[in-house]
Amino acid sequence: MKITLEAKAFAEIEAGALVSWVFEESDPVQGRIAELDQKTGGLLRKLVKSGELTGKTLEMTLVHAPAGVKAERLLLVGAGKREAYGPAQLRKLAGAALRYLKTRGVKQIALLAREGETTAEAAQAAAEGLVFSNFESDKYKTEKKNGKEVDAVLLAGWDGESRAAGEKGLQRGLIIGEAQNFTRDLVNEPSNKLTPRVLAERATAMAKEAGLACEILDEKKIAELKMGALLSVAQGGPEPPRMIVVTYTPANAKPSGPVLGLVGKAVTFDTGGISIKPAEGMEKMKYDMAGGATMLGVMRALAALKPSVKVICVVPATENMPGGTAQKPGDIQTAMSGKTIEVLNTDAEGRLILADGVTYAKQLGATHLVDAATLTGAIVVALASVNVGVFGTNQEFTDKLLGSAKTCGEKMWPMPMDDEYRDFIKGTMADIQNIGSGKGGGAITGAMFIREFAGDTPWVHLDIAGTAWLDEAKPWAAKGASAVALRTLVDLAGKL
Ligand code: BES
Ligand code: MN
Ligand code: ZN
Repeated sequence: MKITLEAKAFAEIEAGALVSWVFEESDPVQGRIAELDQKTGGLLRKLVKSGELTGKTLEMTLVHAPAGVKAERLLLVGAGKREAYGPAQLRKLAGAALRYLKTRGVKQIALLAREGETTAEAAQAAAEGLVFSNFESDKYKTEKKNGKEVDAVLLAGWDGESRAAGEKGLQRGLIIGEAQNFTRDLVNEPSNKLTPRVLAERATAMAKEAGLACEILDEKKIAELKMGALLSVAQGGPEPPRMIVVTYTPANAKPSGPVLGLVGKAVTFDTGGISIKPAEGMEKMKYDMAGGATMLGVMRALAALKPSVKVICVVPATENMPGGTAQKPGDIQTAMSGKTIEVLNTDAEGRLILADGVTYAKQLGATHLVDAATLTGAIVVALASVNVGVFGTNQEFTDKLLGSAKTCGEKMWPMPMDDEYRDFIKGTMADIQNIGSGKGGGAITGAMFIREFAGDTPWVHLDIAGTAWLDEAKPWAAKGASAVALRTLVDLAGKL
């Protein structure tokens, strides 16, 4: 998809559709919309009068062959209340407009900016929304929706200074949107197509194309490094595990500067192992590698955006299978750090592989850690599919990440990590156990377990079990992988 900035008068634009946003306010025909009303001979006022145009969020009003403009159609998208409007809304509106028009066969759309939207932020948000929304989860359908190419222009008074800013924002938006779609494609893959080895190949190819260093540890190397927690999960099936390491080193890396470690859970299929999951809904467990895919997407974006901080991405990848060689409840494993773990439930496997991932990232030099994982069903109970659960041990670092989430329009909510919860994972036969003892707080228990391995290194855990997958399509997004947390982490890397 091609997106360009355009400064022409809106009436002169030839496109399949001219699109703009309408606020829900006592008189929705204001500012840019009033200009549009004048050019079209009072069309918008008529629509308001008839009740067809109210500005309610995501209301779509489509008019064919509008008078006074060259575009074939005019699409007015409800933007909700003006006070609540910002880049997060713009991203969704742009995406929703694209999907709405794409299904109607429109091939070029022109987004007419509202007042004050000649900024880098606006161009970035619109580009992100457009690229993200243009993705379809139809890779394995013989008839593709993706075949329908759409191009877009961002229409505003881009003059000298604002044009330079707009171009920058647009490029950033394209990079981030494409990285999100890269992640979504990986997450959507079924487990027969995307095994740990295939994920490693995909990471290697991405790194090569992006100009990043990439090292893949195979099962032999993993055993040599004594990654016993990762191996214990992998032993349940014939597919060997992989530890994927992708590194971004900035041109003028300071030897004493911070190093961001991004650790992503990549269980390419989670059957639960011997503590097997119920059949109903089990097919969804192909997305149990979303954390890993998100981190790889972040790296892809960072390679192009070139922040000044070094970033090491570590993705432990395995299946969780219940084969004859599988670990059994009660088994005791020794993690790479040397800590012993009593595996009371083989379905709490994410924290096991993250234990070794986090230890390895620290060994490679990470001074700050973020992990992302589809870790617990309990986070879905706590926050549903609205917010990512955020757990941290260092307030300053956690606040920084939450600030990035806000900037990027990704909903995240802080969860507690009080010392009282430490008792939940205290081991009886080993140092720690991988589940609590029925005292509740399942998502916190999982975070406390990973904390054992992060130690004193500033660390944030993101539980994305509820948010990494859209069960239903949204007006701005196809059903399936959401790539949640990618934008936030790209922003965070720029702020370290
Ligand atoms: N991958 C699951 C968590 C999950 C659940 C992700 C629902 C997406 C949707 C994880 O490995 C798991 O099985 N967690 C268990 C932990 C329990 C055994 C302590 C859970 O949440 O039930
Ligand atoms: Mn599990
Ligand atoms: Zn899992």
